[in-house]
Amino acid sequence: MRETITFVLNNRIERVSGLSGDATLLDWLRQRRRLTGSKEGCAEGDCGACTVVVARRASATGAMRWHPVNACIQFMGMLEGASVTTIEGIMPEGDDAPELHPCQQVMVDRHGSQCGFCTPGFVMSMFAAWCNGEGLDEAGIDTTLAGNLCRCTGYRPIVDAAADLKTRDIPPAFESRRRAREAALMDEIAHDETVAIGDGTRRFIAPATAEEFAREYATARDATIVAGATDVGLWVTKQNRHMPQMIWTGRVRGFGDVIRQGAHWRIGPAVTHEAALQTLAEGRPDFAEVMRRFGSLQVRSSGTMCGNIANGSPIGDLPPMLIALAADVELAGVSSNRRMPLEDFFIDYGVQDREAGEFVSALLVPVAASPHFRAYKISKRFDQDISAVMGGFNISVSDGRITDARLAFGGMAATPKRAAAAEAALVGAGLGMEAFRAAAVALEGDFTPISDMRASAGYRIQVAANLLLKYGMDLTGTPVPRLTGPGAGLSADRLREARI
Ligand code: FAD
Ligand code: FES
Ligand code: FES
Repeated sequence: MRETITFVLNNRIERVSGLSGDATLLDWLRQRRRLTGSKEGCAEGDCGACTVVVARRASATGAMRWHPVNACIQFMGMLEGASVTTIEGIMPEGDDAPELHPCQQVMVDRHGSQCGFCTPGFVMSMFAAWCNGEGLDEAGIDTTLAGNLCRCTGYRPIVDAAADLKTRDIPPAFESRRRAREAALMDEIAHDETVAIGDGTRRFIAPATAEEFAREYATARDATIVAGATDVGLWVTKQNRHMPQMIWTGRVRGFGDVIRQGAHWRIGPAVTHEAALQTLAEGRPDFAEVMRRFGSLQVRSSGTMCGNIANGSPIGDLPPMLIALAADVELAGVSSNRRMPLEDFFIDYGVQDREAGEFVSALLVPVAASPHFRAYKISKRFDQDISAVMGGFNISVSDGRITDARLAFGGMAATPKRAAAAEAALVGAGLGMEAFRAAAVALEGDFTPISDMRASAGYRIQVAANLLLKYGMDLTGTPVPRLTGPGAGLSADRLREARI
């Protein structure tokens, strides 16, 4: 096992050892390397002031991909083999190079910066999009920038700056040279060994194979599994928790793969939300719509699907959608391997059906089309907010009658949970609003939600019932008021018409 992590930083190879296993990239950049362009605003993945770009090769194709990442919640061990570019690293080099990088120049030209605190983060989000050649068209800019907050400039000039970049999408010579060197250095440091980093009290292990992962976890069962660290990172930065041992899924060969397994997509433990999105959203526009509002691009680029299940949160966005789609979860340990319907995994608040030494080894999501699948996320803010109520619904219909119903909610109980009484009200009924009205009434018997800072119990039950009505309207062709996506901005007349 190597006790040194190796990665590329601003196109130079870095070898780091003897560092606390829970050291974050942002602290290391600012305190050890004096690269202070990346800022700390919130230290919890919300503001984007610390955004850097992490390049990795896609596990399926080997193609280079540039991910915007919140350095404040990224552990150093997660960088093994990757290339990190900070705001300092995009400065053009060479005789033919301009003074500023195009991603910086557009911000100057469009007056996109005032106090400047947020500016490096915005520039790096744009840089990632520019490198990937996507997310700078009108539809994509909001998604590209949703993970960056600015408290002075206002977003108009920044959005204009990003739009200008679209017209400068041919990489200039200096950037082509930077990318070629980045790829060459990444190939130079690539290896297949397990690595670890630690200071004697806090250790971060990055196993290279599934066998080593299972073995390491079996010998250190109180170790914390880390995937994207978009939850675990905050335990360190906000709760000051001591993390004696962490084991990372992100480097394990095969853990980052999405593969077809019979009638299911098999989603490995290191598959990020971004990586899974295209496959799972195929034919399920509502899945894509909810995921577009899951955290931010920075959060989706690190956070994993399995992490969103394993954390057992009652307000995670994925469980209601995946339960509605009848997904299964697979658990593995040194000598065990079992599979169960996802809804059975969640037992009670903070309690999942997971034995000591087991980990979530895959999610299995049906491939079959689900024309009646819909999902709705209700949160206080449109972007970057955890749900107050989340609904994932799926019914089967035959000859105009509802033959099966899967209605799953988040934010309504101590776990993500199906609405048994509402489902019973639908099954056997004809596909019409009457059935959904009956289901909305029956729903009151399914849940006794709590009041908390996100929503009151009364609000939750009302919203959940309304979501069922909305689902019925969606399926029966009744115009549904939408704030975004196709059909957004219905006229007052159509809104009146939509009232039921
Ligand atoms: P980690 O932080 O690495 O781990 C989370 C938990 O799961 C830990 O307990 C860890 O030990 C465990 N774990 C991880 N993988 C495994 C495994 N394979 N087997 C066993 N245990 C495992 N969530 C939402 O649902 N919707 C949102 O809109 C949303 N917005 C967010 C916005 C911000 C700014 C942040 C910081 C977080 C947000 N989250 C949101 C929460 C978080 O991003 C998700 O829950 C994410 O999917 C967690 O995945 P991860 O890979 O980062 O998990
Ligand atoms: Fe706010 Fe990292 S400091 S996202
Ligand atoms: Fe001041 Fe954005 S320019 S926070």
